[in-house]
Order: sequence, then C-alpha cells, then structure tokens
Amino acid sequence: MVRLMSEQGRCGLEAMAPSTWVVRWAGLIEPGAQVLDFAGGPGRNLAPLLERGARVTIVDRNPDALASADPRAQRLCADLESGPWAFGAQRFDAVVCCNYLFRPRLDLLLGLVKPAGVLIYETFARGNERFGRPARPEFLLRRGELFEAAVRCGLEVLAFEDGYVDLPRPAMIQRVCALRPPAVRQERRRVG
Ligand SMILES: C[S@@+](CC[C@H](N)C(=O)[O-])C[C@H]1O[C@@H](n2cnc3c(N)ncnc32)[C@H](O)[C@@H]1O
Repeated sequence: MVRLMSEQGRCGLEAMAPSTWVVRWAGLIEPGAQVLDFAGGPGRNLAPLLERGARVTIVDRNPDALASADPRAQRLCADLESGPWAFGAQRFDAVVCCNYLFRPRLDLLLGLVKPAGVLIYETFARGNERFGRPARPEFLLRRGELFEAAVRCGLEVLAFEDGYVDLPRPAMIQRVCALRPPAVRQERRRVG
C-alpha cells in the first residue's frame, strides 16, 4: 500500500513498507529483546522487529494508528511531548524511531537505550522543505545533529548518514545506528 506523507504528527498516506534503515540494523536486536518503537504510528516498522523475536512496545499518541498496529506488539497510547514522561526509569534493549522529531525531549528519548542496547533512528533533515513536508525547522534535523545527540547521550555511533534519498520518495534524511556501551561493573573499577 502506498501512502503520502503529511506534516509530522499526522501519518497520512505514507509508504507502509518498513524503513530500510530499520531493516538494515534490526540484526543487532537479540531474540527476546525489549524494543520500543517510539512514535511508531500504525507500526510499519514492527515486522522486522517482531521477526527477530523481539518483545516490542509501540508508543504513539494516536489511538487509531495504534489500533491498526500488529497485535503482537504491546501498545502504549501516550503524549510524548507534554505531561509526564511515559517511561519513568524504564529502559530498552533497542529503541527505534522513524520520521519523528521533538527536540526538547530528544535526549530523554536517547536515554531510553539500556547499557549494551541499540538506537536505530531515522528522520528528516534540513533541506527537506524543497521536497515537501515536513518543512518546518522544528521537524528537521540540523546537519550532523543526530550524530551529535548520540555522542552527547553517551552512545557510540556505528553508522550515520546525512543526505538525499530518492526512495521511498525524494527527501533529505538523517539516520543513525548507535550502541550504548555495556555498564562497567563497579568492583572492576576499584583501585584499592
Ligand atoms: C510521521 S508519523 C511516523 C510513524 C512511524 N514512526 C513511521 O515511521 O511510520 C509520526 C508519528 O508521531 C506521532 N506523534 C506526533 N506527536 C506526538 C506526540 N506528542 N506524542 C506521541 N506521538 C506523537 C504521530 O501520531 C505519528 O504516528
């Protein structure tokens, strides 16, 4: 099915095929891993995660979108931009986020990745306004921004791309796959 993108926040008719970036890096997710699909909408990225044997939670504020998501995923309806943060101290083995940006809580989002966990993130970047929506600066990443955010939040960047794609439609995209280093056991750090 082919869908066309409307402004961020309303998944209009967007391509329902999973993101090729998610498909590319889903192999890092272990069977049984707890995965969060952040602002996942109707769940176009669930299939490659569920096929890995992951236990996936999909969160979005739109109950209609969630209702059409694969029922094997746990669904959480929450506003991710205002009110209390929906996750408390909860952390995930993998966090996937596509076609969504809310800068004021970007570091909170990246902080959801557990030690030894993975972040797979792809969204629109500056320059996308030439091709359509999203076009507003608050929805578009600045050059290198996702890379810098990952490093700032203690993640190690495995892969980063920033540029033009022509599929599923012409767009400026930024995407990162990053790992949080495993926690160092306290006793191994003792010096005395
Ligand atoms: C462009 S869609 C992307 C959906 C999915 N990640 C994908 O790539 O197909 C953006 C999603 O962000 C969700 N969203 C926008 N603002 C939100 C908010 N304040 N809280 C939770 N979800 C929000 C929308 O409901 C929508 O499903």
